[in-house]
Amino acid sequence: MQTNIDLKGYTTFGVSSIASHFATFSTIEEARELVKNNTRELLVLGGGSNLLLTKNFEGLVVKNEIKGITCVELNQNDVILKVGAGEVWHEFVIYTIENNYYGIENMSLIPGSVGASPMQNIGAYGVEIKDVFEKLEALEIASGKIHTFSKEECAFGYRESVFKRNLKGKYIITNVFFRLSLQENLNTKYGAIEAELASKGITKATTKEVSDAVIAIRSSKLPNPVELGNAGSFFKNPVVPVEILNQIKINYKNVPSYPVDDHSVKIPAGWLIETAGWKGKQVGNCGVHKNQALVLVNYGGANGNEILALSTEIIEDIKTKFGIELEREVNIL
Ligand code: FAD
Ligand code: EPU
Repeated sequence: MQTNIDLKGYTTFGVSSIASHFATFSTIEEARELVKNNTRELLVLGGGSNLLLTKNFEGLVVKNEIKGITCVELNQNDVILKVGAGEVWHEFVIYTIENNYYGIENMSLIPGSVGASPMQNIGAYGVEIKDVFEKLEALEIASGKIHTFSKEECAFGYRESVFKRNLKGKYIITNVFFRLSLQENLNTKYGAIEAELASKGITKATTKEVSDAVIAIRSSKLPNPVELGNAGSFFKNPVVPVEILNQIKINYKNVPSYPVDDHSVKIPAGWLIETAGWKGKQVGNCGVHKNQALVLVNYGGANGNEILALSTEIIEDIKTKFGIELEREVNIL
């Protein structure tokens, strides 16, 4: 157990926040011991890539370092892998590509840990974790018991799960089980993947080439947290009634949108924020990224409250201009 640790280097936003107590665990037993008699507020930390710290943390931060990838079932069609929650997500993706297990190549280069991936049902380029999720194991903080959660029990939605809602703060995810295909079934229809492959003269892509294309697209738009602090998309893309879209179309004929069901559509928050004039804007030490309006960045030395205040200004402006209330994706503490 360490005391008075600056979490600056433990989150991708790179803002300072002193944790009064800090410990790491690499087994379930260690995690159980740490939380057993703990009376302090608890923060479970993975890679810190979806977290904005706005104050010092008077509590116990426990960093998950449970490692290991094991094959628990192999049949003609697919493989089930048990993955320690402290594994780095992108390294796991590369492992699956190297072993010819298919299904998560489109989620290459998402930062963070495997254990946090079910928290918000991470997704990119037409694939979400729920598409390959089998089950997970989690330590119940109050009882110290391990519970198994099926896909249905996780209640996955768009950047949502039961762990962000009803069970928030109650469990530490320790292992995640994924069902991956042994048959190559690439999904290149989404976003700019096909254009990126074509630019390389690739007509029949391999899984590795799709992964490389996703990495290239992401690297061109999203800031690398090592160079510029950020937590990816700061807001969710709003799902709104079709009437709101029609209203916006009166002034903006080409507003992009994606159908969700007969009555609602998803409008890219990046478009709303860019159209409202925020893209590339710097406010104090933080701002809106110049290549991706959905990403707020720390130019160095920003504190969490400055970034939070900027996000509130953006929410209010988008509400005034378009009648849409943006919801934050990033966890605020
Ligand atoms: P943390 O930031 O450490 O934690 C996030 C939340 O989960 C916190 O509330 C934490 O307490 C909780 N938590 C973490 N681990 C556990 C655990 N084992 N048990 C219980 N609770 C836990 N996300 C996407 O979905 N798609 C993207 O394309 C994407 N792109 C990104 C690009 C960049 C440049 C960045 C910086 C972020 C991006 N993100 C994206 C967001 C982020 O990578 C994901 O949300 C990721 O899953 C967070 O993992 P983490 O380990 O860093 O979680
Ligand atoms: N757009 C703009 N201006 C911008 C950014 C986007 O107009 O500055 C519009 C464009 O119309 C563009 C559309 O938004 O075509 C979609 O943009 P992009 O493909 O970059 O995706 P996104 O909707 O901004 C979402 C996820 C990302 C994920 C990508 C790729 C959310 C909140 N974000 O971003 O996830 O990587 O799609 O699938 O759903 C994250 O969650 O942290 C994250 C980065």
